[in-house]
Amino acid sequence: VDTHVHLAQVFARARIRGNLLEWLNEAIYPEEIMFADLDHVRKAAGCFVRECIDVGVTTANVFLSSHKEASELCFEAVAESGMRAIMGMVHMDQDAPDALLVPAGRAISETEDLASRWHQHDRGRIQYALMPRFALSCSRDLMTQLGTMKRETPSLYVHTHLSETIKECRAVLEAYPEHSDYLAVYESFGLLSDRTVMAHAIHLSAQELLRISAAGAGVAHCPSANLFLKSGVFPWSGHTTAGIRFGLGSDVGAGYQINPFQVMRDAYNVQDKLFLRPTDLFWRATLGGAQALRLDSTIGSLDEGKDADFVVLAPPCDLPSGGPSENEDLEDALAHLIFTGDDRWVVASYVRGRSLTSETV
Ligand code: GUN
Ligand code: ZN
Repeated sequence: VDTHVHLAQVFARARIRGNLLEWLNEAIYPEEIMFADLDHVRKAAGCFVRECIDVGVTTANVFLSSHKEASELCFEAVAESGMRAIMGMVHMDQDAPDALLVPAGRAISETEDLASRWHQHDRGRIQYALMPRFALSCSRDLMTQLGTMKRETPSLYVHTHLSETIKECRAVLEAYPEHSDYLAVYESFGLLSDRTVMAHAIHLSAQELLRISAAGAGVAHCPSANLFLKSGVFPWSGHTTAGIRFGLGSDVGAGYQINPFQVMRDAYNVQDKLFLRPTDLFWRATLGGAQALRLDSTIGSLDEGKDADFVVLAPPCDLPSGGPSENEDLEDALAHLIFTGDDRWVVASYVRGRSLTSETV
């Protein structure tokens, strides 16, 4: 389960441009502008879906771009692939190139139209999320209207970014001097709920951790992206102690691979003091991620009554050790998988018992 990934950034990976705000302006916004070109979108969506299937991501929580036509095409491609996904058109009406800005009135009517056709599509395999990009890219008017939409249709998800870098947090508090922390901005517009997923959630006070937990909101921990943009170290123990539901996200294109094995090993490596257990890492990439997305009654583990979403894994024969042996302790076997895993290990990916194939998408 990839709890946070940007389809519109699959071609913009590994662009070293400095910290988050510099990287967004110099590497990411120019790439997302290209989503006005539907041929480009078709290629990106195909590449995204194939990569997910090949590397064993069966469910993804996906940021698109701020273009309605591009979003429509992405919904069609992902729905057609057989994958499970939560997706939406990105909201931004300030602080970015004009070509990406959509004024609040148009953004809301376009979102209503997309959500009316794609939310709960195919008995809930595809769901819709409202996507205020982050507090800095949305006006108060837009945030207010998104809050109204969420109140009117509570089953819609909200997917956004929270407290990824210190500079971003400072800028948010300058824009919202009436609030004492970043989370309060989303709370004040009615955007924090048990169907809200916030990516990063690094620089948080104990108070904010408790409020996220009390709201039952989900967090997407994206260690590869945090390493790449040098954003800081995710407070793993702070989140677990507060009882927050969190999973792992590739956050491609700040993350460099959709590959969940890479994300698990980066989650291990980014912690400077903790020695995370392989079973904890694997759980976060599966059932923990499903919990963060509120999909755990349907997917995330092989339990009776759930949908048959799973991947078949086998050690590639060219590994010198031949992969974990049956006698190895479970933790060691999982560690071997996590630290050497890639698409060579993935024999097949299934959603609802149906084998997905990247050859036809
Ligand atoms: N914050 C706002 N937009 C983005 C984005 O596209 N990627 C990351 N990593 N953080 C963001
Ligand atoms: Zn992101």
